Amino acid sequence: MKVYDAIISRRSIRRFYQKQVDPEILKKCVNAGRLAPSAANLQPLEYIIVIDKTLCAQLFEALHWAAYIQPKWTPNETERPTAYIVVLVKDTQNPYYERDVGFATENIVLAAEGEGLGSCILCNIERTKIQELCNIPLTLAVDSVIALGHKAEKSVVEDFKDSVKYWRDEKDVLHVPKRKLDDIIYINKFQ
Ligand SMILES: Cc1cc2nc3c(=O)[nH]c(=O)nc-3n(C[C@H](O)[C@H](O)[C@H](O)COP(=O)(O)O)c2cc1C
Repeated sequence: MKVYDAIISRRSIRRFYQKQVDPEILKKCVNAGRLAPSAANLQPLEYIIVIDKTLCAQLFEALHWAAYIQPKWTPNETERPTAYIVVLVKDTQNPYYERDVGFATENIVLAAEGEGLGSCILCNIERTKIQELCNIPLTLAVDSVIALGHKAEKSVVEDFKDSVKYWRDEKDVLHVPKRKLDDIIYINKFQ
């Protein structure tokens, strides 16, 4: 898959078939994160791949999903992610670490897309719970979790009109409003 095609087709996916993900593909995704741009090349990030079924089930309890969907929605037992990548930071004093996380996580989700996997970056997470569950030493901070698996939902982009809130239609297709290119692009000068 071409990089641009992966960027265009990737959407946050929150429903998955209950089929295991090949651990080698997950390692490939982490490798894509490892090779992302890093401010001053300090590389403050580390990763935990979670595939153990019991641990996946426990980790799921520390995650919060799709805040715009009302009434409150969370994936049911037959559609939960089958793998996770927990993103850790070993130096939160690094003033650019959040940018590094952005680049690395985007690389990871694009690599996943290229492998035909669905993914969702999650920051609305219970970090203390995750720290304990995964035996993460306090010298490392839990930044985010990337949920992964085989896609079991359809998500489409639509032009932003008056709300940024994604929504599900009667066929359960997720619609994600994005600002139009013509509304955010300028050539040479702002006006
Ligand atoms: C930094 C960040 C944090 C996010 N946290 C959550 C989250 O906690 N739960 C969730 O369901 N989605 C989360 N998302 C996914 C966004 O809701 C999603 O990217 C956005 O709605 C746009 O949809 P798209 O990824 O399909 O383009 C997060 C995305 C980013 C970039």
